[in-house]
Amino acid sequence: MNLINLIEFDVIGDERGNLVVLEGNKNIPFDIKRIYYLYGMKNDLPRGFHAHKKLLQVAVCISGSCKILMDNGVNKEVVKLNSPKCGLLIDKMQWHEMFDFSDGCILMVMASDYYDESDYIRDYKAFLGDIK
Ligand code: TYD
Repeated sequence: MNLINLIEFDVIGDERGNLVVLEGNKNIPFDIKRIYYLYGMKNDLPRGFHAHKKLLQVAVCISGSCKILMDNGVNKEVVKLNSPKCGLLIDKMQWHEMFDFSDGCILMVMASDYYDESDYIRDYKAFLGDIK
């Protein structure tokens, strides 16, 4: 599987503006059980630094921009999110780090399950060990 999997959303647009529809098991490839969003980030304070054992997520930068480093334990790649028309699939066992937040960045994330701290791998060495 690719490290960077972007989902381009259809946009219903007219002179009044644009509308994007996100639906579980349609353009979002799982049942959406939880939505959270990050805002008020500082450009020089990165976040993330974890992987999930089972959770699937799609992150959409609905305002502003940020960068996300994706790491599968073998390869690393950075993607810039700067469009409300585009979602990044964060698969299970993908280490991710978010950084370089613009002013006004709002990062919305849809998740396949409820919050569960035991699903997190927050130690990079443990992540590399689990990948093997
Ligand atoms: P965390 O996922 O570590 O944030 P980030 O990856 O953006 O750096 O979450 C930060 C804190 O918020 C942590 O204490 C767990 C808590 N949290 C919840 O309680 N529920 C949630 O759905 C999420 C995503 C986090």
